Amino acid sequence: MIVRIASVLLACLNLLQAGIASYADRTSLGGSLYLVNRTYRLTEAYVPDDLVTVNVRKLNAGIKLRREAALHLEEMFNAAKEMKMTLVAVSGYRSFDQQKAIYARKQKTSGSKEVAMLLVAPAGASEHQLGLAVDIGRTSSSNLNGAFGKSREGQWVRENAHLFGFIIRYKAEWTGITGYADEPWHIRYVGKEHAQAINALNVPLETYIESLALQSFGEYYAFE
Ligand code: DAL
Ligand code: ZN
Repeated sequence: MIVRIASVLLACLNLLQAGIASYADRTSLGGSLYLVNRTYRLTEAYVPDDLVTVNVRKLNAGIKLRREAALHLEEMFNAAKEMKMTLVAVSGYRSFDQQKAIYARKQKTSGSKEVAMLLVAPAGASEHQLGLAVDIGRTSSSNLNGAFGKSREGQWVRENAHLFGFIIRYKAEWTGITGYADEPWHIRYVGKEHAQAINALNVPLETYIESLALQSFGEYYAFE
């Protein structure tokens, strides 16, 4: 009997450790759930090692994503095409220096640091540097603005992106958590399993990752 109880306890411990290990794998650098925001930043040195050019309609030839994200983007664009909608990739992987330049430009054109901060991440704080985020538009208009969210294509993306492993990362109602305004064009690859869970829960990535940590570490996880 004691041996039996011990083996059940051991099995539970193994399960718990497997949960913790997979949480650690997924949320560490290189994992599809790695969190980047103004609090958790990347250094200048980080460049993903599996970037590929996306094989979809794109604004310019140089748009790249990490391999798995690129494959799923292609799958998503093909599904949109079957629904008679054409999507276009506008921006994918951005280096630390590219992001720095975009942020500086936005500060200049908006004339306000506060406005720029709501729209563009500073260098190191953009998940575009992860190679897991992509901005998408319509063929007829590649401008990134709220009109995309209202368009048929934007609505389709909102309703279907999770089926291909992507989430809508910045929604208007999450600005207090994410720090950014509504961006219906910016999608982030997290993998199908998590994208579907995040979509069902309708929470920002920050909240989802916190809840995963809680599940993995239970009472040992301390909230600030
Ligand atoms: N526009 C998003 C927040 C970025 O710059 O990464
Ligand atoms: Zn973006």
